Amino acid sequence: MITRIGILISGRGSNMEAIVDHIRKENAPVEVCFVASDRANAAGLEIAKRKGISTAVVSYKDGRAAAETEIEKLWQTYNIDLLVLAGYMRLITGDFVSRHEGRILNIHPAMLPKFPGAHGIEDFWKSGEDSSGVTVHIVDAEMDHGPILMQEEVARTPEDTIDTFETKIHAVEHQLYWRALKSYLQTLKQEAK
Ligand code: GRF
Repeated sequence: MITRIGILISGRGSNMEAIVDHIRKENAPVEVCFVASDRANAAGLEIAKRKGISTAVVSYKDGRAAAETEIEKLWQTYNIDLLVLAGYMRLITGDFVSRHEGRILNIHPAMLPKFPGAHGIEDFWKSGEDSSGVTVHIVDAEMDHGPILMQEEVARTPEDTIDTFETKIHAVEHQLYWRALKSYLQTLKQEAK
């Protein structure tokens, strides 16, 4: 059986692109049914189009509830099993999450529960700590919160600048998200048996 997923992005879309590439390279039984963004000019939308994936823009001009109605419509129209947040800079409400419990994933560029929020990399960098990392988790009603599926540590070396460190974080993200997603799909499959 093919698992149907939708991906939400806000910007560059490099994590979305990595997931699509992993699926295609491995010929995995997963279909990315749509890529949607809250920003019409998100670069990732063009990448998705080039890859032949349907795209959509979710408008927040009438508030979060209206936007989530649009996301719900996408969910139903494309009949997806799972929603993957990949750099989606909006908070999903508890209402939406409770309708789709365990079916929304997120990636965060730090070792949650450390450094949640929009500036996980910068906040770690300023903290002076030696290492940070990447977290993939199930989304609950709190920001950057919910059961952790996988984490990978990324150490800061003396040669690192924030830019080189950020590059390392993204390189790990681009592998970890697919690994976590794949293993979570296995878990769901086992549970369904
Ligand atoms: C990633 O670092 C992700 O962890 C964070 O936002 C960034 C999105 O990057 N939530 P991209 O749009 O996937 O390139």
